[in-house]
Amino acid sequence: MFAYAFPLHGRKVDIFPFERHDITDTYVSWLNDPEVTKFSNQRFHEHNLESCIRYFDKFVKSNNLFLSVRRCDNGQAIGTMTVYFAHHHGTADVGILIGERTVWAMGYGQDAWSTMIDWLSCQEAIRKVTAGTLASNKGMINLMENSGMELEAVRKNQEIVEDKPVDVLYYAKWHAS
Ligand SMILES: CC(C)(COP(=O)(O)OP(=O)(O)OC[C@H]1O[C@@H](n2cnc3c(N)ncnc32)[C@H](O)[C@@H]1OP(=O)(O)O)[C@@H](O)C(=O)NCCC(=O)NCCS
Repeated sequence: MFAYAFPLHGRKVDIFPFERHDITDTYVSWLNDPEVTKFSNQRFHEHNLESCIRYFDKFVKSNNLFLSVRRCDNGQAIGTMTVYFAHHHGTADVGILIGERTVWAMGYGQDAWSTMIDWLSCQEAIRKVTAGTLASNKGMINLMENSGMELEAVRKNQEIVEDKPVDVLYYAKWHAS
């Protein structure tokens, strides 16, 4: 539905549709890196080229978006984003994974996130943009709050992380009027 609008251009990153040829050994290694997946349920799965192709194929057949995040300056792929639409409800739920750990804490994740949230919240068909994270994922909480999203709900002690229950936080931003 929105594929025509890509790539989106941020200050530090460009956001392209993720293509079949983006499934590289480097990409698979992000998904198998315990540090990258420590706040995600991906940590319970081992990934390989076949599992990544299956995941990619699900997006090809859907109206949801699977996106590649690339540095503007050198074109390096550093991560991915997903957007799941509920068209009947006018909502879009966003996720991000900056898999290239060497570029963490350099502002790339924030630029990708804010570029996407700003763009989605200007689309007439989208009433509300949503996202969620574990309360222990401080980086993700900063991304959401810095992009103008507000805390909407907390599921107390929802998931077990390192043997301890942790809250899951849900954030939202409404269509820009
Ligand atoms: C969370 C993630 C997207 C952050 O990306 P990043 O490029 O490292 O983040 P940025 O450099 O743009 O930083 C954005 C903000 O978060 C803060 N931040 C980033 N990582 C942080 C961390 N580990 N702890 C605390 N704050 C952190 C930065 O200080 C910055 O805040 P500020 O601008 O208010 O100072 C990235 O670490 C990642 O993809 N992690 C693995 C996957 C993941 O957890 N995805 C989310 C699942 S819900």
